[in-house]
Amino acid sequence: MSDTAKPATQGAPETGAFFARDLDWHPPALTPGYKTSILRSPQKARISFDNSMSETTGPVFGHDMLGELDNDLILNFAQPGESAIGERIIVHGRVLDERGRPVPGVLVEFWQANAGGRYRHKKDAYLAPLDPNFGGCGRAISDENGFYHFRTVKPGPYPWPNGVNDWRPAHIHFSVFGQGFAQRLVTQMYFEGDPHIALCPIVKTIPDPEAIDRLVARLDMNATIPMDARAYQFNIVLRGRRSTLFENRLEGN
Ligand SMILES: [Fe+2]
Repeated sequence: MSDTAKPATQGAPETGAFFARDLDWHPPALTPGYKTSILRSPQKARISFDNSMSETTGPVFGHDMLGELDNDLILNFAQPGESAIGERIIVHGRVLDERGRPVPGVLVEFWQANAGGRYRHKKDAYLAPLDPNFGGCGRAISDENGFYHFRTVKPGPYPWPNGVNDWRPAHIHFSVFGQGFAQRLVTQMYFEGDPHIALCPIVKTIPDPEAIDRLVARLDMNATIPMDARAYQFNIVLRGRRSTLFENRLEGN
């Protein structure tokens, strides 16, 4: 895997206090163009709860808890000798903190539709067929330098019942665990060059074009495997001014 992730100041690590979070940066909770947000957005003032013991003391992850194929969606649901149908890709990147430092030992989980845009989920009734050799989820743990990677097939775009004719861009869902259950972050990764990104009502809820840009993985020819798989790079920045936008902060937390 190539390391093209750089601290924002081209090598000079930043020092000082944490960067304050810009609450205006996140989309408002209520964005009627994304119809589901009408029911999901809070109707009353929120209440803060103290963290419980179970939230602050777990989970603890180690590399030995992962299965051999957990980060290989091409094979982890496939019959012996078979593999998932679709464009073979590698997704890789680093988990970084607000100063561009690697964050090791982070559990990164991912789930996605198959190459035709269909999820293996009982409520997904899209016309595209299921692939018997593709499950659609996996996980990895960032190494000592913050790197994670997995192999999969590129997911297809799919239509969803929002407006008359709305399609999601090809995307992979990500969950990133911190040191406690209360520190789970969830987001979506898009693919460079996809014209559906600009058309998507969910993407359009994000007011800052730079925040959208940071959710778009770049084609990384340096990390491709010739005659096998192309690679996309997606770095995950946990907080700070270059933070990845996480869905569970849409209410401005
Ligand atoms: Fe999705």
